[in-house]
Amino acid sequence: MTNVVAVTGASSGIGEAVALHLAKQGVQLVLAARGEDKLNALVARIGDSGGTAVAVSADVSRRDHMVRVVNTARHRFGRLDVLVSCAGAMPIGPMDDLAVDDWNQMVDVNLKGVLYGIAAALPVFREQDSGHFVNIASTAARKTTPNQAVYSATKAAVLALSDGLRQEFAGKLRVTVISPGFTETDFISHVRDDQLRAQMQEAAAKFAMDPQAVAKAVGYAIEQPEEVNIGEIVIRSLNQP
Ligand SMILES: NC(=O)c1ccc[n+]([C@@H]2O[C@H](COP(=O)([O-])OP(=O)(O)OC[C@H]3O[C@@H](n4cnc5c(N)ncnc54)[C@H](OP(=O)(O)O)[C@@H]3O)[C@@H](O)[C@H]2O)c1
Repeated sequence: MTNVVAVTGASSGIGEAVALHLAKQGVQLVLAARGEDKLNALVARIGDSGGTAVAVSADVSRRDHMVRVVNTARHRFGRLDVLVSCAGAMPIGPMDDLAVDDWNQMVDVNLKGVLYGIAAALPVFREQDSGHFVNIASTAARKTTPNQAVYSATKAAVLALSDGLRQEFAGKLRVTVISPGFTETDFISHVRDDQLRAQMQEAAAKFAMDPQAVAKAVGYAIEQPEEVNIGEIVIRSLNQP
């Protein structure tokens, strides 16, 4: 039975919805992000509803911070059953802008953040002889569009590394990728270009789905019997082409 789940990117959007959904199922939570105030407010909200959660201020692009997230789970709850890697950055734009700092941020958060989570949790999962990685990718992993080349590349990389990890640890660990389509969160605020942000807002109004739908998909993957691994769930609004 899954008792202890760490969620990165828990201060907002999909990560927050995952935390609230799992708290209702009685899961003990370690919630990580950089924004401490939002995390503390979420921990208090979960506590007020009878749940158990602890906040860890962490930047996923720092390997030592991800070690701290995993250590918090062990110290507070004695183990870690699942790591949900949800933290993400989306400062998208045309390649021609040469916004190399934004490219680096997407690689650091969306790809290296997931890798640092794996590096931190894998030794614990090995010792426990059980564990589950749930990595949040995107439908952009398979279908890229102009302005999203680097973002898509980081998400395609998450798909690839998750499948490799799953095969290497077949019979021992579970690895799941959740690939959401457009979801109604703060994500659009990451886009710096006004015109592009307005285009995304227009698209969101047409077909963004509620983050709770993604949270339920995460819950579904986690609640399967130990011997069942959900490899990937692709989930998008009915209206999204
Ligand atoms: N919204 C969509 O349409 C959509 C679609 C497909 C996939 N996704 C994926 O879903 C995930 C969550 O995104 P969202 O839509 O929920 O966006 P969001 O509301 O902006 O949430 C992003 C989360 O990531 C955290 N984060 C960003 N950089 C971080 C860092 N360096 N270290 C730690 N945490 C960091 C943020 O917290 P702090 O700023 O406090 O650190 C926040 O909690 C992302 O991986 C995204 O790629 C989103």
